[in-house]
Amino acid sequence: MTIKPVILTEKDFVNQEELLYPFEERGLQFGDGVYEVIRIYDGNFYLLDEHIDRLYRSAEAIKIRIPFTKREIKERLEGLLARNKVDVDAKVYLQITRGSAARDHAFPDDIQPNFYAYVKEIPRMMDAMLEGIPVLSQPDIRWDYCYIKSLNLLPNVLAKQEAKEQGCVEALLHKDGVVTEGSSSNVYLVRNGKVYTHPAQKNILHGCVRMRVEQFCKDLGIPFDETAFHLEDIQFADEMFTTSSIMEIMPVVSVDGKIIGDGTPGEVTRKLQEAYEKDAAISDEKSLFQKVIEQDA
Ligand SMILES: Cc1ncc(COP(=O)(O)O)c(C=O)c1O
Repeated sequence: MTIKPVILTEKDFVNQEELLYPFEERGLQFGDGVYEVIRIYDGNFYLLDEHIDRLYRSAEAIKIRIPFTKREIKERLEGLLARNKVDVDAKVYLQITRGSAARDHAFPDDIQPNFYAYVKEIPRMMDAMLEGIPVLSQPDIRWDYCYIKSLNLLPNVLAKQEAKEQGCVEALLHKDGVVTEGSSSNVYLVRNGKVYTHPAQKNILHGCVRMRVEQFCKDLGIPFDETAFHLEDIQFADEMFTTSSIMEIMPVVSVDGKIIGDGTPGEVTRKLQEAYEKDAAISDEKSLFQKVIEQDA
């Protein structure tokens, strides 16, 4: 199927061509807004509540008052999937900006937020999840409040672009050598069966998949240690992986050209991928592990 170009705005559903904002829009001019990217499998949202909770936390942190209840947003997002007749793997991008007003850094008291959401088909990154990805370390030059999912992504964009130009799939960000997260993912190191990741403080995004990984570790008896690791620790890593709503649980097989473990996805990463597929109710025939069996046959 092809997804129709219907957009959910603060007023109603409109066709993409009808969507017009004034140039003086604070999201466009200042990056003054927040957003979410939500995963859909076979037409169903995955971790919708977690994303909506984070959207509200982000908006509140920058003094945007969302003019809907969480329930209303969820119902309207379900409506967006229904109107677009989504029955495939996809994502919803939703954005709330402070609104439209004459350009001035300070904002008017009565400003009304602008809201839109659209849905786009996006297949799972099967080959990358099976083989793992190379990543490139980059300095984390972002501000102190990265727990807010704000539209200001220039440092993330530049880090990812640098990674891409050097043949890598993700940038691993570090502050003075301490690994914080990826340009669009959370990052983990596995050593002696224990998973290490940066604590969920204000300087990283509290990933929805990260939250689930913590739970999967608990369920599987894998120690989950929120102790940040250093670039220098990577040489001792048995495995590494990143997580996000788009990358799911993505094995990392090299950092700056240096191979992690034996250069293939490790045992702990595979167990977590399996737990993810169960949690997201991914059908057996679409499972990574089915693909592994097919490849081996
Ligand atoms: C900087 C950053 N960290 C982490 C994540 C992972 O968040 P989630 O698991 O909620 O998709 C993202 C997702 O886009 C991100 O941009």
